Order: sequence, then C-alpha cells, then structure tokens
Amino acid sequence: MKKLCLLGLFVSLASHNVLAATTPAPLENKEAFVSNLMKQMTLDEKIGQLRLISIGPEMPREMIRKEIAAGNIGGTFNSITRPENRPMQDAAMRSRLKIPMFFAYDHRTIFPIPLALASSWDMDAIGLSGRIAAKEAAADSLDITFAPMVDISRDPRWGRTSEGFGEDTYLVSRIAGVMVKAFQGTGANAADSIMASVKHFALYGAVEGGRDYNVVDMSPVKMYQDYLPPYRAAIDAGAGGVMVALNSINGVPATANTWLMNDLLRKEWGFKGLAVSDHGAIFELIKHGVAADGREAAKLAIKAGIHMSMNDTLYGKELPGLLKSGEIQQSDIDNAVRAVLGAKYDMGLFKDPYLRIGKAEDDPVDTYADSRLHRAEARDVARRSQVLLKNRNDTLPLKKTAKIALVGPLAKAPIDMMGSWAAAGRPAQSVTLFDGMTNALGDKSTLIYARGANITSDPKILGYLNFLNFDAPEVVDDPRPANVLIDEAVKAAKDADVVVAAVGESRGMSHESSSRTDLNIPENQRELIRALKATGKPLVLVLMNGRPLTILEEKEQADAILETWFSGTEGGNAIADVLFGDYNPSGKLPISIPRSVGQIPTYYNHLTIGRPFTPGKPGNYTSQYFDDTTGPLYPFGYGLSYTEFSLSDMALSSTTLNKTGKLDASVTVKNTGKRDGETVVQLYIQDETGSMIRPIKELKNFQKVMIKAGEQKVVHFTITEDDLKFYNTQLKYAAEPGKFNVQIGLDSEDVTQQSFELL
Ligand code: BGC
Repeated sequence: MKKLCLLGLFVSLASHNVLAATTPAPLENKEAFVSNLMKQMTLDEKIGQLRLISIGPEMPREMIRKEIAAGNIGGTFNSITRPENRPMQDAAMRSRLKIPMFFAYDHRTIFPIPLALASSWDMDAIGLSGRIAAKEAAADSLDITFAPMVDISRDPRWGRTSEGFGEDTYLVSRIAGVMVKAFQGTGANAADSIMASVKHFALYGAVEGGRDYNVVDMSPVKMYQDYLPPYRAAIDAGAGGVMVALNSINGVPATANTWLMNDLLRKEWGFKGLAVSDHGAIFELIKHGVAADGREAAKLAIKAGIHMSMNDTLYGKELPGLLKSGEIQQSDIDNAVRAVLGAKYDMGLFKDPYLRIGKAEDDPVDTYADSRLHRAEARDVARRSQVLLKNRNDTLPLKKTAKIALVGPLAKAPIDMMGSWAAAGRPAQSVTLFDGMTNALGDKSTLIYARGANITSDPKILGYLNFLNFDAPEVVDDPRPANVLIDEAVKAAKDADVVVAAVGESRGMSHESSSRTDLNIPENQRELIRALKATGKPLVLVLMNGRPLTILEEKEQADAILETWFSGTEGGNAIADVLFGDYNPSGKLPISIPRSVGQIPTYYNHLTIGRPFTPGKPGNYTSQYFDDTTGPLYPFGYGLSYTEFSLSDMALSSTTLNKTGKLDASVTVKNTGKRDGETVVQLYIQDETGSMIRPIKELKNFQKVMIKAGEQKVVHFTITEDDLKFYNTQLKYAAEPGKFNVQIGLDSEDVTQQSFELL
C-alpha cells in the first residue's frame, strides 16, 4: 500500500513540468525561464542552489533529504545509483519551487586511464570510451561529470599525470574536444548524455616541483601558448561546466582569481556555463593566505564568479551577511544562481527532473551487474592504448605453446588495473593479467605463476598507500620475506621458456596527492627483475603505472617492454591480446619518458636556446647534463609495432606559402614487415626565426593509419597559416613571415624534413 502511494506521488511529480505548481514557465526559452524562476526565489533558496555536497558518512541521508526539501542544496556528488538519487530528487520536488537537483560524479569508467587513452592517439577509440562512460553514468542517474581533465603535465613527479592526456598541447586539445563531445552526445539535455565540466582550470599540471596543490608561476606567453589551449578546446566543444583548480596562478589562487575567471574565461573566451569550485577550495583561500577568514574567502570566491562551492559551507554562512553589509552585490549571487539554473536547464532537468533517474520499475536489479558493462569495447580500447617500447629479437608476440612464467606484484592486481579515480569501477570485475593470459591459453594453459615481489617493501610507503582507501587495504602485501618471494619466481622462470614480469606502481602511487621524488620501479621489484634477468630466460616486462617511470636499467635488462599503464576492467584480456599477437600494438607515447628524475622536465617541444647541446658532439659550454646522456629515454610519440614501417622522403607541394594559401606535405608509409599494422604518422613544424624564441618543433597534426603487410599508403597533411600562429610577447596570436621546417615521422625524433617560407 505504502509502496503504491509512493509510486503514485512519483508518477504525478514526474509527469509535471517543474514549475507547473507555481507559474507557467516558458520552458522553450531558457533565459526567460531562468529569470522567471529567479524572481520567485528567496535569498536562502538562491544560496541553496550554490551548494554542491558530497554524500558520505558525515551526511546522513535523512538530513540531506530534509535540506534538499528546504531548498538548501543544488546538487550532490558521490551518490551514484538511481535508488540513491531518486529519493533526493523526490525531496527536491517537495521543495517550494521544485527546482531539481543534479547528480555529479567523476569518472564511472572501466576504460584505461586518460594517459593510456592518449597513448592510443585514436580519436575514435577515445570518443567511444567517453560515449560509453556517459551512457553508463546517465543510466545510473548522473547528470554531470567532473571530466575531462586536460591539465598538461610535463612533470611526472605529479601523481595526477595519470588523469591527464600527457605533455603536448595539440594532442591534449584534440582529445579535450573529442571527450566533451562524447560526454555530451547530441546535447547535455539528452537522456543518454552527461554534461562535461572540464578541469582543473587552470594550469594545475604545472604545480611547482610536481608537488600536488602547489603554486604555479608562469609567464603569460607560456600559459597562452602551451597550457591554456586544452581548456579552451573543451569549452569551444561546448563543455557546460568548468571545475576550478586548487592551485594559485602567479600569486592568486584560481578560486579567487578574477583575471582567470572573469577576464580570461568569460570575457575573452565567452564561457557562459557553470563554474564549480574544487573540493573545499573556497575554505582553502584562508590557508592560501589571501583571505583572513571564511567571510573574506566567500567574498573573494563569489566575486571571482565561482558559482558552486564544493563541500564547504561558507557560501551559506557568509553570503547573506556580505550582501547586507554591501560588500557584495545581489548581482554577484544572481550571476551564480543563473549559471546553476542554466546548467540544470541545459541538462534537461527542468523538462524532466527524472530524465536520467527513470522509473523505479526500470531500475537495474543489480547496478553492478556484469551485463551492464561494455567489456568488448573496453578491451578493444585498452589494446589500442598500449605502447610497445622494446622488442629485441621478436621476443613478442609470445607463442601460446611456450611455457610461460608470469611473475610480479601486478600480475594479479584487480584494483590496480582500474587506475586512480576509478569511481564506480569494481575491482572484482577487473580482468587481471593472470586471468587474461589464462583466458588466452585456455585449458592447455602452461602458465606458472609466482608473485615474486610485493609492490614495495617500504613500510612507510605501504602505510601511505593503504591510507588512501577507506574501504579495504589498497595494496596486497604477501608477508613472506622478499628473498623467499624472489626464489619462488626464479624457480618458475627456470622452469619456463620465457618470463613475463608485471611490475610498476600500485594505482595509489599515481593518484591525487601522490607526488614522488623517485620514479624508479620500487627497489624490491627491481631486485626481482635483476634475479629474473640472471636466469638468462627471455624477459618481458609488462609495465603498469600511471606516469612515466625511469627505467634506464630495466631497458637494458628486458628483451621486451610493453607499457600498459592502468588499462581498465578488461586490461588483462587486452594485454594478453598484445602479448600473444592477437592484436598488433599501435600506441605511441603521449609523454616523454625521462632517463632520470634529474632530467625533469623532459618534454619534446622545448624552446630554442643560445647554446644547444648537439648529440654526438662534445658537450662543453652547451646546455646539457655532463653526467648523463642528454635527452629522453623514449621520446614523445614513440612506440613500436610487430611489423616494420618505412617512411619515404617528404614531398612538399611548394617551398612558399602565402597567408591565404595551403601547402600539402606528404609521405609514403610502407609496411615492410609481415603483419598488418597501424601506426601514427606525426606532423611537426618549427618556426626557425621569430620575434621571440620558439619551440624546436611542435606537433601540428597526426593520422593513425592501418596498412596491410607489404602495402603502402600516401599520407597527406594540409598546412595553412593557422598552423604557424603563436602568441607573441604582446599576446597577439599571429604567424610571422620567414622560414619554417616541416617534419614528418613515426615519433618526435626520427623524422624526415623539408622547409618552406611563409610570405
Ligand atoms: C579533485 C577533483 C575531483 C573532486 C571530486 C577533488 O579532490 O581534485 O579532481 O573532481 O575531488 O571528487
């Protein structure tokens, strides 16, 4: 009976437009609708809309519903199922003005981590991962995601390098656009779409020394040229939201930065959407030392146009008093409320507050049912995201008839496969490398498994990693002594034809706040690798990690190295596909791998200098490290295949380009090996002389092409004046006449070059 009543209430609410009970609303006209609604709102109701809360143990559900019904909350994050969110929307429908809630979450994806997705250089695959993430999230009642994260990262000490798409402005910008369009689909108001809110605005990846939450001090030219374009690309692609970064920029925290939020984002870029603070960021203005107390913090944030405060209560507490005293104006609050309501409008929630929550009778019996996953797609995208770094004597692919020793702490690590911020991902549903190889080998599996080493033998690091997860210990720790684990692995290796070692980081090591000073594989795992090497058996390293690791020694020891990052729910199957040659690897590095931490930053597109180091020449009085080879261990754009590709010399349609003209640069790419394969043909341009120093080269385009064994393809790139523009010292975006070098290659170093002149 009770159930029936509730159902009745639900149906009647769902079938009405939100404001049906108050004034008829011109739903088809957004601005009029929002203005009309705002006219009816009290100050408290307005301020309530600016509050974004985290659902957690500190917030009992009953209390939340009461607060929602009182109009005190605008949205939540961390509540991720329809049965969880429906009662909250019901509560919003009991509020005076029935303004719907929205439900936000980070990634609900079982796809490879963003750094891995970027390694695919495959915009279709990346788009597919975003579309599926959106569909899954929308089907679970979510309206908005705090993604994509497009912070350029050139310092892999920063743990959140894993969450971004690498070091390159052009590549990250392309992906930013693809991701936003994938999340928002036909529009953020579609039932199977979610709104994208690009983060972390801005420059979060450039925190000093790679220390999370730290300061960013950067010249305007570098910002405009290198770090800002990906956010801009996301906004140009229609991102409805922006999450504001936790760091300061040239002395002013982003959350209080009126230049960043108002002058740049709104006036210059024309952004009209929702700006959400990061977690507790308004309160942190006190810690930054730019606000004396909560009152000042709230004032600075609202003045900077931070619309919603994530998980702090300062707006609710302080805005009424600030308004009364005249320190802020009604328009400051109204602008924020208008943005929140506008975003809800754009999400389609005023038309139907239950658009994504659906009807109770349609709820999945089990939110986490395996049948709801998109395993086939996740497996394919994960295969495309792996980068083959080394393959001496065709050690890979492995023969399925070989006797294989599988060792290493990451061979059976379901939680780590998912990577950090895996949100609603379930470790129990992850296919580990052991599972994947066993699946590939079937009944006749001759796999010998030995753990070989723990993730780390450093108790302090172990303590840190386990602190990250409140539900269960993150890191499995085998209590047996290190030498016993190694002996067991060595025995397995000796009994096998080939050794596969799954080594690297646990996911918590490449996570928010997990900055590292040392990018080696943890020492106890390196001991294992040395012992395996000593057996003389062919050694394949399967790397799992969320950032480039310094693998100088391992590069020499290993016969083959496959960089798999954290490859998601289907990771184990996808890696097995590559290891056994059922898929021919095609990934390329979206970030340089440094030789050592001392070389950081090691990005490829560095600026020209007066005394450059020339490889092969004496280094004295040139810019170099005298104690090591200068340059990365593996360059940006690098990655091998099981087949070989050769590149012809480049043909350039002309040696001059005028301002309105076009140039065609082409190469013939030949698959000279025995297998069909895909590779990424990359176009770089260098502006030889300009009014200011310019990068030694910059990625300007790329194409991923499939070429059958023995066949060839001509790959064409069009170059226009737009590709030559840059921000000069006056921040004017323009191309300058003069000589340009064009390079085409299969990585950023090994290229064929031609030159032309811009007239
Ligand atoms: C992170 C954001 C994230 C937010 C909500 C913060 O700690 O910096 O990236 O979206 O938490 O989960």
